[in-house]
Amino acid sequence: MGEQASGESSGKEPIGVIGAGWVGLVTAACFAELGHPVVARDVVEEKVEALNRGEVTIHEPGLAELITGNADRLEFTTDMDRVLDHARLLFVCVDTPPTHSGDADLSRVRKVVDDLAGSGDHVLVMKSTVPAGTGETIIAELPGAGYVSCPEFLKEGTAVEDFMNPDRVVIGVGQGGEADGDAVAGLYEPLGGQMVRTDVTSAEMIKLASNAYLATRISFINEIANVCEEVGADVGEVARGMGLDDRIGPQFLRPGIGFGGSCFPKDVSALKLLAGNSGYHFQLLNSVIEVNELQKRRVVGKLVKHLGPLAGRRIALLGLAFKPDTDDMREASSLVLAARLAAEGAEVVAFDPVAMDAARAMLPGVEMAGSALEALTGADGAVLVTEWPEFHGLDWGEAASVMGNPLMIDGRNFLDPAALAAAGFTWEGVGRAEVRPG
Ligand code: UDX
Repeated sequence: MGEQASGESSGKEPIGVIGAGWVGLVTAACFAELGHPVVARDVVEEKVEALNRGEVTIHEPGLAELITGNADRLEFTTDMDRVLDHARLLFVCVDTPPTHSGDADLSRVRKVVDDLAGSGDHVLVMKSTVPAGTGETIIAELPGAGYVSCPEFLKEGTAVEDFMNPDRVVIGVGQGGEADGDAVAGLYEPLGGQMVRTDVTSAEMIKLASNAYLATRISFINEIANVCEEVGADVGEVARGMGLDDRIGPQFLRPGIGFGGSCFPKDVSALKLLAGNSGYHFQLLNSVIEVNELQKRRVVGKLVKHLGPLAGRRIALLGLAFKPDTDDMREASSLVLAARLAAEGAEVVAFDPVAMDAARAMLPGVEMAGSALEALTGADGAVLVTEWPEFHGLDWGEAASVMGNPLMIDGRNFLDPAALAAAGFTWEGVGRAEVRPG
């Protein structure tokens, strides 16, 4: 791999990818799998070298196999000119993290636009999430180039599957951009899924609105769960009953300890600020954000309810990543939870099946255990933070016997309360009745 994306004679459209992060790597690997010769460019030299050796640095199911399996069609480089020579269609997959003000940081997108100025008839296919209006600005700045907004809807942990089986593909083009839109649509056609052809600004809004709506559903069900706790209802039953209404649907109604990750927190904030900067106060999103912040902290109140003051108490966190099947710690609820527990004077010990390396640097005061059982040993209480499937298989009888006090706050309603109670645990979840042993 790495010498040259040799499939250039395959007759398939060559693809350029700019930014080999999560979205860029999945996009590059999946287009290569579909038979396209792909050259992906990243600015981090060590990452490019590792990728050319077939070493994938992120944990994403199926991705490493696609990268090694399509080595002859996949090349990684730091050289922008190599990508420009290789492909007319350039998928821009650089990140747009939040700035201190909460707006999206477009500096990496701007750099790509600068690199492209005067480089001929390339088409920028924008995958990066940008504020609505960004595409039209770029179009005005790059008169010779094409521009297509094609936002990504990949979920970490199932990104390869999501790419290969899209619900919809959104393609936004500006005036005169229909042929470029057709070229991008042609790439996605073999995958099925509804094509949404629209203008650039609407395509940008579809992405922001989709993420903000999903985040709103999570904050909504979290508040319903909190009310369930007060009135003695079971949020699982409530979500099931709600989700059977076709107008509502069952997805994204799982209560928990708040949403995290690289997208929802930043995109909700970016949409709120985009609205504010345009003169509109997006009141609902303020609440979505606030409810999410409070939800991460509610666990601490539950621990105090059972244990009293937490100073000197040893608390085990099971799972640290923002969700299972990823080692991504960005905006993970565990970060806020660990910091709150430390502020209460608790001793925090943690275990995650894959995110330990990523977590170590971000949680300096937290003791990292070698296994879930080791984390639980001597603990006065445990919090299930990330619903890793392997936690189901723990020997709860043994877990109860090694803990100082078998208390489980299940932040995801993931474990079987009856099994835990039978093993001697007191179990408390989110929006459900507490279960005690015996
Ligand atoms: C999200 C979007 O789903 C995806 O379309 C977009 O392109 C990127 O952002 P991702 O961040 O990978 O994907 O994860 P997702 O599965 O959407 O979960 C986000 C967060 O919400 C996680 O912290 C998860 O635990 C939480 N969540 C999700 C809930 O708390 N309840 C739910 O019902 C669903």
